[in-house]
Amino acid sequence: IKHLLSAADLDAPTATLVLDTAEEMASLAAREVKKLPTLRGRTVVNLFYEDSTRTRISFEAAAKRLSADVINFSAKGSSVSKGESLKDTALTLQAMGADAVVIRHPASGAPHRLANWVEGSVVNAGDGTHEHPTQALLDAFTMRSRLGRLAGLNVAIVGDVLHSRVARSNVQLLHTLGAKVTLVAPPTLLPVGVRAWPAETCYDLDAVVPDADVVMMLRVQRERMNQAYFPSEREYSRRYGFDVPRMRRLPEHAIVMHPGPMNRGMEIAPEVADSARSTIVEQVANGVSVRMAVLYLLLGGKS
Ligand code: CP
Repeated sequence: IKHLLSAADLDAPTATLVLDTAEEMASLAAREVKKLPTLRGRTVVNLFYEDSTRTRISFEAAAKRLSADVINFSAKGSSVSKGESLKDTALTLQAMGADAVVIRHPASGAPHRLANWVEGSVVNAGDGTHEHPTQALLDAFTMRSRLGRLAGLNVAIVGDVLHSRVARSNVQLLHTLGAKVTLVAPPTLLPVGVRAWPAETCYDLDAVVPDADVVMMLRVQRERMNQAYFPSEREYSRRYGFDVPRMRRLPEHAIVMHPGPMNRGMEIAPEVADSARSTIVEQVANGVSVRMAVLYLLLGGKS
């Protein structure tokens, strides 16, 4: 594939190839091989119109470990503040010879538009409430590393599904790879049309905990809440927060995930986030290997 815009771009063999390649990248890093020459002479542009810590830094680290030249563009402090459009910004980057553009944008669909305007590969690093495919890949990588498989896993994705691009990409990718997903949320935080997604829905977190192999907590996105009805934080935490009593009811092997950034004390208790079952820090580390694999597979081998 030329671009990675959506988790739906990945069929099962391609997704598995990305995960296997990421495993090779991780094993090289574990053997202190810090840098590969694979993308020497290539330019990767990180084009971020929305804030990010994990995704932006890990794409930068991934590109540098593959010896690519990296240009970091943040909309803040650029000519975007003077009204320059995404298209004109894209053409400017094109003129500077970008081989790949990694884009985060508040508008759903922006990476798809960008892919029509640039010659290089486009990677969606999160667009509005739409998709975040490399997050889904690093989450799948983490589940496979911890639990040894993806097919047949029971994965509960819990919380603010309505605004979550992480949930959308995870549902798609996990379905492709044979896991069973249950979305757990108050009815007001489930999107219209969720019944067409390849996932079950449930309003009761306590009902899914005893059978879950994976519990993936979502951040409550207060900045996108707009008109969505949201109960009080206390009520939300009581019904949908992952706390120590709920963690104790999980099967022994089960893991707790969160893409970050977290609202500690709201959707996840600090004791859970910092527990041995939590893979939150591991997810961040795996993000570098997975993004190396994505850049390698999209750009590697092209002259
Ligand atoms: N998980 C994630 O996308 O985090 P950032 O917003 O910090 O990139």
